[in-house]
Amino acid sequence: CGIVGYVGPRDSQAILLSGLARLEYRGYDSAGVAVIDGDGALGMRKRAGKLQVLRDDLAASPLADGTTGIGHTRWATHGGPTDENAHPHLADDDKLAVIHNGIIENFAELKDELLAEGYTFRSETDTEVAAVLLGREYAASRDLTTAFRAVVSRLEGAFTLLAMHRDQPGLVVGARRNSPLVIGLGEGENFLGSDVAAFVEHTRNALAIGQDEIVAITPGGVEVTNFAGETVEVEPFEVVWDAAAAEKGGWSSFMAKEVSEEPEAVANTLRGRLHDGAVTIPELDGLDDLFAGVNRIIVIACGTAAYAGMVGKYALEQWTRVPVDVELAHEFRYRDPVIGPDTLVVSISQSGETMDTLMAVKYAREKGAKTLSICNTQGATIPRESDAIVYTHAGPEVAVASTKAFVAQITALYLLALHVGRIRGVLTDAASAEAVRELEAVPAKISRVLEKEQPHIEQFARWMGDTQSVLFLGRHVGYPIALEGALKLKEISYIHAEGFAAGELKHGPIALVEPGQAVFVIVPSPRGSGELHKKVVSNIQEIRARGARVIAVAEEGDAAVLPFADEVLRIPLAGPLFEPLLAVVPLHIFAMGLATAKGLDVDQPRNLAKSVTVE
Ligand code: G6P
Repeated sequence: CGIVGYVGPRDSQAILLSGLARLEYRGYDSAGVAVIDGDGALGMRKRAGKLQVLRDDLAASPLADGTTGIGHTRWATHGGPTDENAHPHLADDDKLAVIHNGIIENFAELKDELLAEGYTFRSETDTEVAAVLLGREYAASRDLTTAFRAVVSRLEGAFTLLAMHRDQPGLVVGARRNSPLVIGLGEGENFLGSDVAAFVEHTRNALAIGQDEIVAITPGGVEVTNFAGETVEVEPFEVVWDAAAAEKGGWSSFMAKEVSEEPEAVANTLRGRLHDGAVTIPELDGLDDLFAGVNRIIVIACGTAAYAGMVGKYALEQWTRVPVDVELAHEFRYRDPVIGPDTLVVSISQSGETMDTLMAVKYAREKGAKTLSICNTQGATIPRESDAIVYTHAGPEVAVASTKAFVAQITALYLLALHVGRIRGVLTDAASAEAVRELEAVPAKISRVLEKEQPHIEQFARWMGDTQSVLFLGRHVGYPIALEGALKLKEISYIHAEGFAAGELKHGPIALVEPGQAVFVIVPSPRGSGELHKKVVSNIQEIRARGARVIAVAEEGDAAVLPFADEVLRIPLAGPLFEPLLAVVPLHIFAMGLATAKGLDVDQPRNLAKSVTVE
C-alpha cells in the first residue's frame, strides 16, 4: 500500500493526490484521503478502484480545503477492495482518521475486546481495529502521540500506521514496524511517505525512520521516538533522483520508459566502481572482514530479483570460488536452514521492502549470518537491516513488472563477485580486467538491441496477440532468463507462460509441445567451447520436429539456428556470463508488446503490487 501525510501551509488535498499518484504502483485496489479543514472539521473520501475514481469523485464534490492530511492507496489483504474497506478508517466519532499498511496479526482478538466494550465496526479490516483502539486511547490521553504509544505495544505483525485527530490540527503521527515510512523535510511543511516518491516533487531532504519508532510531524518540526517514548536519532539522506525521474515523460507507459532506461541502469550501477580493470565498491570499504571467513553464499529474493540472483550465482561462483545457493526468500525463511557466521546472505530487492525478503534477512541475522543487501531504494528497510549495502542505481522503477532493476541487479551481483574475488585473492588481474571490459560494453550493447530489434519484436508481438501459451527455454545463465521471460509474460499479459531449463525438456515439458506452440529459446554463443550451443540447437530440433513455433534469441551472426527458427531475435556478441544482460531485453520488449496488443495496462497489472509489504 502507498501512504502519504502532509502538514504545512498549503492545501493538503492536491499534495496528497499527487503523492498518491506517485505511489500508486504500491497498490491500486482503492484509494482515500482525509483532511482537517480550517474550521477544524475532518473530511474524508475513499473509493474502490484506481486513484482516478477518487479524483473524479473529489472533482465532482470537493472536500473543504485543509492543511493537514493523510492519503492511502490500497492493495487489499483483509477484506475485498470495496469503498468501506478502503482507507482512511475513522474512529472516535469520526474525529480521528487512520491509514495503515501491513497486517495486524492479532486483530481478531483485539476486535473481540473492543466489541465486548461496545465499540462498533464498519469494515472487515484489521486497520479499523487499530483505528478504534487508537480512538479509545486518544479519549483517555487527549494526545495522539501518547495514544500511539499505547496502541503500538498491543499490535502484532507488521504495520505502518498514520493518523490525525480533528482536535490536534497541524499534527500527523506515524509509527512503523517492519513496514516502510520515511520523512520528507520541507520549509514550514513536512511530509510522510511509504517512500520518497510521495514527496520528492516538494523536497529531496529525507529522514529514514528506524524500526519500532513513532514520528510526529508538525509544520515546524519532526519528533521521532521509540515505542517507549525516548527520543531517537534519525538518519538524514538526500534523494539522489528528482521528481522528473519518476515521471512518464513522453512514454506510453512507465514500463516502456523503464525498458528504454536499461542501458543507463547498467551504466549508472557501474559508475564509480570500476578502476583500472578492477572493481572496488566504495560502500564496502573497511568491510573486508565480512567476506574473509565466508565459506558459503546464499542469495535470497523474490520474483524477478530471484532470477537476477540465479544469474548472479554463476558469476559469484566463478569469480569468488565460494559455493552459492539461490533461494526464494519465503522458502528459505521457513525451512530451518543451516547457516551461521561463515554464511553470507545476499538479499536482492528493488524496493528494499518486500516483506518475505525482509523477514528472511532478519532471520539470517538472528542465526548469526552476515547480510548484504542489493537494493534500488535509498532509506528502505532491507538495506537498513543489513550489515552491508550495494545500491543498484537504476533510478525509480514505477511499472509493477521489474525490468531495468533486473539488469541493474545482475550488474551489482557481478560487481560484488569481482570485488569479493579480488579480496579473497582468487580472481586474477587478467580475469578481472576482462570482466570489467565486458561490463563496460554492456550499456551500448543493450542500446543496440533496443534500436535494432524493438520495432521488429513489437510487430511480432502484435501478430502473436491471441497466443494462449508460450514456453521459454534456456541453459546455464540462459535458464533464469527463460524464467524471467515467462514471468514477465504472466505478470502483464495474463497468459500461460513457463520457463524451463532446456536440458529438462526431454524429462517432461516436451509433452506440452504440440503444433503451433510458441517456444522462445535463449541460444548461447557458438564461440568458446560451443558445447552448450550445440546442445541447445539439438533441443530446438527436438521441439521443431513436434511442430513448435520457435523464436530464437541468438547472437548476431549465429547461422546455425536459422534453419530451425521461425523468428530470430539478435543480440550483440558478449562473453557467456554477459549474454543474459542482453538476452533478457527482447523478452521484456516482447511481454510489453503482447500486453499492449491485448489492450492491457502494462504498468498496473491486475492483482499485483510492486512492493509487497505483507508476507
Ligand atoms: C513483486 C513484484 C515483482 C518483483 C517482486 C520482488 O512480486 O510484483 O515484480 O519482482 O515483488 O520485488 P523487490 O522489490 O523485492 O525486488
